[in-house]
Amino acid sequence: MNLNITVLPGDGIGPEVTEQALLVLQAVAEAFGHRVQSQHKVIGGAALTAVHDPLPADTVQACLKSSAVLLGAVGSPAFDHNPGHLRPEAGLLKIRRELGAYANLRPAVFFPALEDCSPLRAEIVRGTDIMIVRELLGGAYFGQPRSIEGDAGARVAVNTMRYAEHEVERIARVAFDLAMKRKRKVLSVDKANVLECSRLWRDVVTRIGKDYPEVKLGHQYVDSAAMLLVRRPAEFDVVLTENMFGDILSDQAGGVVGSLGLLASASIGGPVGLYEPVHGSAPDIAGKGIANPLGAILSAAMMLRHSFQLEQEAACVEKAVSAVLTEGARTADLAGKAHAAISTVEMGRRVVETVSRVASTQKSA
Ligand code: NAD
Ligand code: IPM
Ligand code: MN
Repeated sequence: MNLNITVLPGDGIGPEVTEQALLVLQAVAEAFGHRVQSQHKVIGGAALTAVHDPLPADTVQACLKSSAVLLGAVGSPAFDHNPGHLRPEAGLLKIRRELGAYANLRPAVFFPALEDCSPLRAEIVRGTDIMIVRELLGGAYFGQPRSIEGDAGARVAVNTMRYAEHEVERIARVAFDLAMKRKRKVLSVDKANVLECSRLWRDVVTRIGKDYPEVKLGHQYVDSAAMLLVRRPAEFDVVLTENMFGDILSDQAGGVVGSLGLLASASIGGPVGLYEPVHGSAPDIAGKGIANPLGAILSAAMMLRHSFQLEQEAACVEKAVSAVLTEGARTADLAGKAHAAISTVEMGRRVVETVSRVASTQKSA
């Protein structure tokens, strides 16, 4: 199979982690007889620097013509005072919209080898395997009107949280379909005690849930869900939630399982899937060669699964990641006192090497 992808490295550690993810993708492709054809395009701060546009038309065209997109991260303090449409983040929001990527799947899985990395006690975090299903094209991120107006000292800012029934319905179906292949539990997270958007959300999710009688549906307010996520993370299965709540809870889930740098995501639902680690451009460690590339690498695995239906290949990458962690490979975010930290490149190399080994045992099994 030809894996025709566009790579959007972006800013900060984005290029560092996507480089390793691409090497792993090439390794698994080679092991299973596929070919990766990739082209690189600019987004975010890199695109602002190059052409004063956080998402040039050329980047959009390239993404739409490819079968999947691998993204690093966007964002840089250099642009933090730009007007909204000239911020790196605007490029990311726009590419999600251009690709129709309304469903953001963010798994948070605890690796047994990382018991010393979670701030939680091992008996609490053990067994954690959560799939956060975050609505990605609605809510306050895209609602109109939005503005900031007035004179200094008397300014007023407005954002609009907005959801239409069909937007809730389609993301709810994604969550229930996933739950059917997992532990058949959906926890819908909202703020229905305060927000109209959440009341509509709860109503629609409850209605769609009737089509899935085997799935146990629960509802939780987001404040309470945040508390439960640290108290009893292992009890969660699928978490279904709106755009901003999903953004917040997924970083929290990263902390729970040991590092945000581990978390991968798939942004799907449109014609071309977008695969992006959950973390940002990490300006505090960018350029040092110490970022954890596993979130990006596991995002490439999600690409194999969701855009190319290559389940064996996806599983091969996931097994390789688990294996290198078991062997003690740790980037700085995971190293703690017991391990020496390895670089981004070395972590990538270890996964590449292990992918080939796992592939040959998988194929002979
Ligand atoms: P961040 O996720 O970039 O970093 C938060 C903390 O986690 C930092 O201490 C960072 O060093 C650490 N971290 C993140 N990824 C890591 C990795 N792979 N390995 C090791 N440590 C890692 O969040 P932030 O600092 O709040 O935001 C920085 C910039 O990134 C901002 O401009 C923000 O808008 C942007 N951002 C982009 C995305 C994206 O492109 N998808 C996501 C989140 C934030
Ligand atoms: C994420 C990021 C983005 C979001 C920002 C950078 C626009 O935080 O992917 O989680 O809020 O969706
Ligand atoms: Mn985020």
